[in-house]
Amino acid sequence: MKIGIIGAGTMGAGIAQTFAGLDGNTVYLCDINEELAHKGKERIASGFYKRIAKQKMTQEQAETILSRIETGMRDICFDCDLIVEAAVENLEIKQATFRSLHELCKPSCLFATNTSSLSVTKIAQGVGRPIVGMHFFNPAPVMKLVEVVSGENTPSSLTDAVIEIARSIGKTPVRVKDSAGFVVNRVLIPMINEAIGVYANGVASAQDIDTAMQLGANLPMGPLALGDLIGLDVVLAIMQVLERESNDQKYRPHPLLEQMVSEGKLGKKSSKGFYSY
Ligand code: CAA
Repeated sequence: MKIGIIGAGTMGAGIAQTFAGLDGNTVYLCDINEELAHKGKERIASGFYKRIAKQKMTQEQAETILSRIETGMRDICFDCDLIVEAAVENLEIKQATFRSLHELCKPSCLFATNTSSLSVTKIAQGVGRPIVGMHFFNPAPVMKLVEVVSGENTPSSLTDAVIEIARSIGKTPVRVKDSAGFVVNRVLIPMINEAIGVYANGVASAQDIDTAMQLGANLPMGPLALGDLIGLDVVLAIMQVLERESNDQKYRPHPLLEQMVSEGKLGKKSSKGFYSY
């Protein structure tokens, strides 16, 4: 099938890599200009080079997957069967993007959004065709889960089709209602926010907080390192949505999180967060 990925950042590139892993798929990785789209593909290639160096992948395998990815602006998606939008977490931008895709794409093309916290129902308003949430986790090529989110007007046929597509690329889909943070982020992101509070109170160093949670709660990585991986700006944005939608103070973003984001300390992507990269 032909899959258009809108947004070539960390998630968009990871999702593109995931779809391109399946023989028979062609992926169109798009961004607001060709350079950004191309950078997304370069990010995938540089991950492959590391795996080739570790002898976990051959040059030929890498070239095969990369040859299934074309880059450009969204107009190259006109013939796609599926769109997965992974643009910035901004409702107006997502709505405008889908409206223009509705004009561009063939009527049978399925529309999915990788939003991590916004309402799928709201994103679909005024678009002219139904939308389903297809929420991947970072790093998308590795993480098995996809939350498939039904908005108020998402037909079950669309949800079912995306569940099958998620399975076809080796993911485990779960059905989720359109609710702030869905399942994973509603539980996981407040945990990261709490770990930031523990750090701000001087209870332990960042490394010791992460070691404690890794070994004491059997997590694959500590919450502060995970916040750096996700992006502290994304963590903050999700806390703000949870607080706004629930009107519950328990979701208040920690002031240190707000301060770090305002200082441009966003984690791995800015080379500085709780750790330096
Ligand atoms: N892209 C592609 N592959 C990657 C990768 C990336 N960014 N990072 C790691 N990998 C691959 C590695 O190549 C390796 O694969 P092979 O074994 O085939 O070589 C495998 O993942 C394991 O990597 P490492 O050996 O380097 O390191 P690790 O065993 O410590 O695993 C990890 C790294 C997968 C990131 C692991 O620490 C982990 O699972 N962490 C938790 C991640 C998590 O919770 N993600 C969810 C965040 S929430 C979210 O994303 C939702 C949202 O909306 C914000």
